[in-house]
Formats: sequence, structure tokens, C-alpha cells
Amino acid sequence: MVNLTQSRLALIGFIGLGNMGAHMARNLIKKGHELVVYDVNNQSVNELTKFGAKSSESPADLAAKTQNIITMLPSHPHVNEVYLGKKGILETAQKSTRCIDCSTIDIEASKRIANLCAEKSVYFNDAPVSGGVKGAEMATLTFMVGASKTDFEVIKPFLECMGKNIVHAGDMGHGLAAKICNNMLLGISMIGVAETMNLGLSLGLDKKVLAGILNTSSGRCWSSEVYNPVPGVIEGIPPSNNYEGGFQSGLMAKDLSLAQNASVETHSSTPLGSMAYNFYKHISNQGYSKKDFGYVYEYLRTKKN
Ligand SMILES: *[C@@H]1O[C@H](CO)[C@@H](O)[C@H](O)[C@H]1NC(C)=O
Ligand SMILES: *[C@@H]1O[C@H](CO)[C@@H](O)[C@H](O)[C@H]1NC(C)=O
Ligand SMILES: *[C@@H]1O[C@H](CO)[C@@H](O)[C@H](O)[C@H]1NC(C)=O
Repeated sequence: MVNLTQSRLALIGFIGLGNMGAHMARNLIKKGHELVVYDVNNQSVNELTKFGAKSSESPADLAAKTQNIITMLPSHPHVNEVYLGKKGILETAQKSTRCIDCSTIDIEASKRIANLCAEKSVYFNDAPVSGGVKGAEMATLTFMVGASKTDFEVIKPFLECMGKNIVHAGDMGHGLAAKICNNMLLGISMIGVAETMNLGLSLGLDKKVLAGILNTSSGRCWSSEVYNPVPGVIEGIPPSNNYEGGFQSGLMAKDLSLAQNASVETHSSTPLGSMAYNFYKHISNQGYSKKDFGYVYEYLRTKKN
């Protein structure tokens, strides 16, 4: 088994084994770390124990076993529950435990948890990710880290097991700030590509021809190049699989809500971010929150002026 005396290898606690987290946890095991995991879903835990991880009964149980903890959770209430709730991490966390939260949540909420951790001499850093499920699987994620320079250097080797670009965004909270800004742009640009493709197809253009032209012209962006939302343009991505898997519209709505809240707090004008938020919120309310966010194309296609 893993020799824990090897300095770079550690016993790591991992909480949140969803679409992203399960792959991230596997990559840590592949790199030689020993893992103890927790998730509310037993099935997800079983998948990981088959892969060599140990299970735990609660976040508190996990925190009693290790001083390195990574959390990857869907939203703010889950993160609160895992850290501050009954049988949460802070019930049992040992002094000098290092917590790395990779979830995308409200900056103020994250800082609040960080402060409560600090009261117990527990480190807490924000390190949200970009790169999607594919990036999680291939260990090519980008991590945007909010930490002091010293803390950044300590946690970087762990993150390098799961990602390719580990960026020090600034102090605590700045990892989240960068992530929220990126996803606001992603939400906006996806709608831009979707409505452009919708108009082009209505004008009689072939979808692959138009996608190829955008791809090599000034309108190009990630959503046009590698994630075109029109089914059949690019194989092997959610839009070509009935918008299953991928990045859920409901989560995009949540991220855009975080951006809107940050924009209000900082008095920054973000009119397109606001429109994009309303768009994804509407799609989610219509019952498509689990669909990949490229579903915005389908929504526009079937909506007549
Ligand atoms: C998960 O497993 C625990 C113990 O093995 C059991 O008590 C619990 O009912 C299970 N939960 C679900 C949702 O299957
Ligand atoms: C756009 O170009 C990339 C390579 O740069 C290629 O992988 C992708 O399939 C192209 N997409 C379209 C829609 O033509
Ligand atoms: C944004 O702020 C509103 C109002 O305070 C709050 O209800 C909502 O949960 C916040 N959004 C997110 C994603 O936290």
C-alpha cells in the first residue's frame, strides 16, 4: 500500500463525489495518495471504495481521520452543512488541518467558513475549478486558488494531481472571484453562440459550415470552438447526447446568480450577466435544470419571435 512516510504522499479526505469530484478523487488515488471519502450518496462512495478509497460515516468521522481535506460540493448550503453542520468537519477537525474547498459558492459565505475554521486553527482555502467533467477525468482542470503565498505553495502539489493549471488568483476569496467572473462570461458567450447558430440555420446555412466559419473567424470563443451547442456539430459532447451530462443549466443559473450578487455588492454594471442569469433561471424553471447549459440553443430554436 501507499507509504505515508514518502513526503509528497498523504492521507487525503475527499468529500463530494459527484460528476466532478469522483474523477478528482480517482486522480489523487492514481497519483499514489491514500483516500478516505464521504458523500451523501452511498452508490458514489461504493464506486470509490472499489477503486481503493476508504469510506467514512460523516464529514466529522472523516476529519477525525485526516488533516488534509478537499471538498467539492454543488452549492453553498451543502458546503455549510459539511463544514458547520451536525457531524460536520469542524466538530472534529484537528489543529492545522488543511481544507481546500473546490466548490463554487458565494465569496462572503466562503470567507465566513474560513473565519470559523481559523478560530479552530484550521486552514481553509478556496480553489474552484474550470474545465468540466472531461477536465476532471483527464486531470487537466484549471484551479483558481485564493490563499496566501505560503499556503498556495503547500496545497499546490495536491491540486497538481487533479489539474494542469494551478493559478494563484490572490488572497482568500479571490479564487472564487475569478471563477465567478469566468463563468459569467461563459454563460453569456454560450447564449451568443446559440442565438448566432439559430439565426444562421434559419438563414439556410449548414450547421457544420457555419460552425467551422465561426471557429476560424473573429466570433470564435470556447462555446463555438469546442462546445458548439447545436446537436451533431461536435460529436462526443453533451449537445450531441440530448444535452445529458456536462454542466447543468441549473448550476449555470447558480453561478450567474453569484455573479449578480457580487455585481450588486461591488456596484459593478453587468447588464449581459443579468440577462444571462434570467435566461438560465427561466430554462431551469421550465424543468430543464438538469440539462447541459448548451440547452439554451434548443430553447431558442423552439421559441418563436
Ligand atoms: C447508506 O449506507 C448506510 C450504512 O451502510 C445506511 O445506513 C443508509 O441507509 C444508506 N443510505 C442509502 C440512501 O442507501
Ligand atoms: C473547431 O476547431 C477545432 C480545432 O481548432 C476542432 O477541434 C473543432 O472540431 C472545430 N469545430 C468546428 C465546429 O468546426
Ligand atoms: C444571491 O443573493 C440572494 C439574495 O440575498 C440570495 O437569495 C441568493 O441565494 C444568492 N445567490 C446565490 C447563488 O447564493
